[in-house]
Order: sequence, then structure tokens, then C-alpha cells
Amino acid sequence: MVDLQPIDRIEIVILVDNASCERPSETSIVSRATEWAQSGQGQSTKLRTGHGLSLLVKTELDGDIHQVIYDTGPSDELFHHNVRQLGLDLSETDAIVISHGHWDHMGGLFAALKAIGGQEIPVYIHKEMFRKRGVESKFLFWKRIRELAPVPTRDAIKKLGGKLIHSPNPTLLTDSTLMVGGEIPRITHYERGFPGHVAYIDGQWVPDQDVIDDSCLVAHVRDRGLVIMAGCSHAGIVNITRHAANITQQKEILSILGGFHLVGKNEDRIEPTINDLQKYSPHYLTPIHCTGNKAQMMMRQSFGDRYVRGCVGDRFVFES
Ligand SMILES: [Fe+2]
Ligand SMILES: [Fe+2]
Repeated sequence: MVDLQPIDRIEIVILVDNASCERPSETSIVSRATEWAQSGQGQSTKLRTGHGLSLLVKTELDGDIHQVIYDTGPSDELFHHNVRQLGLDLSETDAIVISHGHWDHMGGLFAALKAIGGQEIPVYIHKEMFRKRGVESKFLFWKRIRELAPVPTRDAIKKLGGKLIHSPNPTLLTDSTLMVGGEIPRITHYERGFPGHVAYIDGQWVPDQDVIDDSCLVAHVRDRGLVIMAGCSHAGIVNITRHAANITQQKEILSILGGFHLVGKNEDRIEPTINDLQKYSPHYLTPIHCTGNKAQMMMRQSFGDRYVRGCVGDRFVFES
């Protein structure tokens, strides 16, 4: 068990996502950028969307505030643009946490490090994130590997002040107000990782379906429950939720927010995922980024008011 401190408040700003929302949210926990951004330039129309995810996470306990960047989106340019449009100052950031080693979550890492200002900053990673990776397609006897865009190297991260912290196990940070989940036990039979995913190791492409580095970021809002943030959920969002609840010994789930990766070949997982997530009775569910339209629609039907749409620039606030 990990002693994750119950906090008074958490604020999550979606810095990068695939989608933008124009209409105000009907749920009080969410404000659109036009409603909260202080720069006066926070018009959601001026924010850019892109395939990727980045969250700015702020925790508060007894007046102490910590700020963490969870993932950095696909590119430096996109990260920098949206942070500027939202009028955010990232110089007080305590740490960067990377959910897994894919370009759409790590591509803006240099911009994040530069925005923090060059001082030494912990960057929570898993050592397998730096593998060269690809996706294999097969058709009869034909086989092709599409190499994925590279992620920043260890050396380049260190040069910009990043202090790499390998976290294969659950790890507390920011005065124990947040937890990096570490490797996620793969329990459900239907969450089978990323089919066709391969890694280039010792001069050859080998199966890498598990994406073992895929993890989550977790907070515990006092008397309300866990807030679970996922990058792409290659480990499976049900496995991630189960792991977060087990490790923290918390049954109440306040919010699950992130990319659930239920597109393409993974669409057969939508139904069992919804059935199993319902067993955890989350108060709010926000599937964004790579979740896919079909899964989002089915989740909206299944979860009703508890389904909360999230888009670039949105600010979520959960209080005890
Ligand atoms: Fe992703
Ligand atoms: Fe991914």
C-alpha cells in the first residue's frame, strides 16, 4: 500500500487534446478556457488541437500548492502555443510525469522543460520509454512495419535540466499528493495491450504489445475519492483503475480522465470495458484523446450525467 495523502483540491487543465469544445460545459466541475483563462486570449478558438495529450495538474493541501505536467503532447510548437494562449506560468512546476513512451505524449517535452526555465526538474519516466517503436501490419504473406516518430533522448532531456527518475513501481511525488502508478498488472482478459506494437531491440523488431511503461497519475481528494489520470491506457483503463484502487486502498473513484484507446482493433473491448468500469462506480468519467468516437458515444449512453466531455483548454476542479 502507498500512503497517498488526501488533498483539499485538484485542478486539471487539458493543455493538449485531439478535440475542442465551443459550447459551455453543463457540468460545474468543468470550465472552458474562455471562462477561466486569465490572459484574455484564452479563446478556445485560438487554442490548437492535435493528436496527443498533456495535462497541467495542480494539487492543494493545507494551502500548499504543487504543480505537475502530465505528458506534453505531440510537439514543442503545440505545447508552447497552447500554454501561451492560456496565459499559464509554468516556472513553479515541481515535476514532469510521462505516461508512456509514445511521441504524442512526449513530443513537447523540450518545450515543457524550457517553459519551466532550465532549472533541474524531476522527470518521471520508465526506462522502456526510450525504445524505438513501430506498428506491424500483416496481410496474408505481406508484412510491414511503420516506425513511430522518435521520442526525446535521455541525453537531450538531461541537457535541458530534466532529472530522469525511473519509476517501475508506484511512486509518490509532490509531498505525497500525487502518485505515479508504475507498471500496471495486466489482469482483464480483453485488455491485451497494443496489437501489432513492436520495438527495435538488439538490431531487430520484436513484439512489444504490452507497452510495459504505460502507467497513470493518481490523486486522492479527501472524502470524495481517487482522481485517476491516464495517457493512452495501453495497459487497459480497467486494469489501471483496479491498480490505483488496490495500491491506495481506496474504493471511491471520483474521476477517471484520459485517453482510453478504444479505437480500431480495440473496439471489441468497448463493451467489457464499460461493464467493468461501471463496477467501480466513478462519479465522473472523461474519456478524451485516443478513446475514439464510438467508445465515447457508448460511454455517454451508459454513464449518463457522469460522462463529462473534456477538450483542449478545459479546466476541471475537484474539491473535498
Ligand atoms: Fe496517445
Ligand atoms: Fe500511446
